[in-house]
Amino acid sequence: MPREERVPREEREEGAGASPGRAGAGDASGGVPAYVQADTYELTVNGTRRAVEDAWLGESLLFVLRERLGLSGSKNACEQGECGSCSVLLDGVVVCACLVLGVDAIGSRVETVEGLSAAGDVADIQAALVDAGGVQCGFCTPGFVVAVHDLLRRVPGADEMAVREALSGNLCRCTGYGRILEAVRDVQRSRAGSDGGHGAGA
Ligand code: FES
Ligand code: FES
Repeated sequence: MPREERVPREEREEGAGASPGRAGAGDASGGVPAYVQADTYELTVNGTRRAVEDAWLGESLLFVLRERLGLSGSKNACEQGECGSCSVLLDGVVVCACLVLGVDAIGSRVETVEGLSAAGDVADIQAALVDAGGVQCGFCTPGFVVAVHDLLRRVPGADEMAVREALSGNLCRCTGYGRILEAVRDVQRSRAGSDGGHGAGA
């Protein structure tokens, strides 16, 4: 359902100007739920403090990243926590950004797919996915990159069952998954053989 339909505009404007804070934190004026308030706050995204200005406090982290901060790498596919295309790291834990409020990331570290490699570089996971043919429409790819990045930094030598389990929250409707698994194996081999591979530390 479009965001504009969920909360009437007049109600959002009525709540605007209240103190910054997390959604659900209460409302001193009474009657107006905290989630219709709008305000400016800061997030730490990919190591940089970013201002989110005059934002409705009910916006998802995914919306904030894409529409307010210009980080469109995280994709909006289901917006229901089902597909993993919006995966980001929140304090080092993979989450679906579509299910997290932007304001709930205040004070946390947010890492998006854009932050997984040095500016202009392609992380080794991304290169391996391309080389193995694990990218077709590409809509799922950023979520897989984040999930693989998270797994391999925790368990570099993860076996196939562990890889499948770690990627079970990421859906792909094009590749049949085999080439994605092949790409993960390629990254593992490359990192084991070269003590990092290009972009491995990202
Ligand atoms: S868009 Fe977030 S899980 Fe699908
Ligand atoms: S490449 Fe199209 S959904 Fe995965």
